[in-house]
Amino acid sequence: MAILTTRPRGTNDFLPEQTPRWQYLERTLLSTAALYGFGEIRTPTFEHTELFQRGVGDTTDVVSKEMYTFTDKGGRSVTLRPEGTAGICRAAIENGLLGDALPLKVSYVFNCFRYEKAQRGRYRQFHQFGVECYGAAGPQADAEILSLAWEGLQTLGLRELQLSVNSIGCPACRAEYHRALRAYFEDRREELCETCRERLEKNPMRILDCKSPVCGQIAAGAPRVLDYLCGDCRAHFERVQSLLRAAKIPFTVDAGIVRGLDYYTRTVFEISVPGFPALCGGGRYGGLCRQLGGPDVEGIGFAMGLERLLMVMEQQNCEFPQPPQCDLYIASMGEAAAQEAFRLTTLLRREGYAVECDLMGRSVKAQMKYANKLGALYSMVLGEAELEQGAARLKQMATGEEKPVPLGEAFFTAFEQEMHNGWFAAAAEAAEGLTR
Ligand code: HAM
Repeated sequence: MAILTTRPRGTNDFLPEQTPRWQYLERTLLSTAALYGFGEIRTPTFEHTELFQRGVGDTTDVVSKEMYTFTDKGGRSVTLRPEGTAGICRAAIENGLLGDALPLKVSYVFNCFRYEKAQRGRYRQFHQFGVECYGAAGPQADAEILSLAWEGLQTLGLRELQLSVNSIGCPACRAEYHRALRAYFEDRREELCETCRERLEKNPMRILDCKSPVCGQIAAGAPRVLDYLCGDCRAHFERVQSLLRAAKIPFTVDAGIVRGLDYYTRTVFEISVPGFPALCGGGRYGGLCRQLGGPDVEGIGFAMGLERLLMVMEQQNCEFPQPPQCDLYIASMGEAAAQEAFRLTTLLRREGYAVECDLMGRSVKAQMKYANKLGALYSMVLGEAELEQGAARLKQMATGEEKPVPLGEAFFTAFEQEMHNGWFAAAAEAAEGLTR
């Protein structure tokens, strides 16, 4: 049955040859966040469905169309997280992290699930790196979050990045904006998709990020939220922009960015490269913590899609570290030699070297072929003669050059010396460098 050997649509397998790149991405982004004072948080893959309905908003596409929701054996409705912000806010409230020691700054890397039309860069299981900062209501926090998103992507070597920022105001200025939107869309109600006709009553701003081309075309001529900002929201947004200019972070103001999730207030932003869906999206959320039953604390954050990041990095030929390499392959002939090979392999691994020996009972020729395939830096063959003489020949695979080495305890010193000082050192040094 093909279903047993076919992964669900919109999911990916990450094979051992690819995972070093993922680990590099995760490591780099988490450590950049740590420089800004963000500590990693891990929350459950599934949460109570109500959390997303209340937090993300039930008129959003994410909640109304894309959630993986099911009833568990206890009869409760649970949902695989479609994003991280709501669950992290829940965890911060539940664990009492929103008390005195603010701002609270957390980072995360995890999988998210959205039942979307699977296509390039859009998956049903995908991975986000993100951060959330709680307790800082002023524009300084917006600038710090934007700076972290920008610098994180710079550190990965991405080029042609475009940061677009906007402000969607607070509930006070939003009320007036909603009136203007309703008036505009009301005239074209019949052309809107069914979901958007419903949104017109409940939440007209959601029409602006509808994926239907007709709604998109109508939305293009709609009033712009920037023209409806109250004095405080306008001042906040001006200050964010001047902080960005001071830190020489290039950006453009794009009034079209409204984001597809309901919790945002004031600053919203996206980072993208031309011709590709957004790499990063985020913004401020003023009311989420209170809405979920927590204290009246503002939050701001962003998330980036790791699949998209990796895809663009590969497209742009960004540098990745060299994947871990096999330092030494010890081939053997006969049982006694195989035992010695296993002993040496184990001891060398304890010293931190990547060493392999035969697990398959293959001929020496086949073992050497395998050592080549592994890209081993060195190899050594052990047979009866080597055991008897207490010596073997260490071969540098790249050049074919060989050198006698003692076996037994003396081997470790000889090997260590060769690795650090000998003619192998150059190869080891090269391996530490970066390759494309
Ligand atoms: P979002 O814009 O929905 O925001 O998602 C953030 C990023 O996740 C996107 O820019 C994209 O790179 C990636 N992404 C989203 N959906 C998919 C998908 N189906 N396949 C592949 N990648 C995808 C949020 O999730 C907010 N929680 C961000 C945030 C954090 N706002 C404040 N704090």
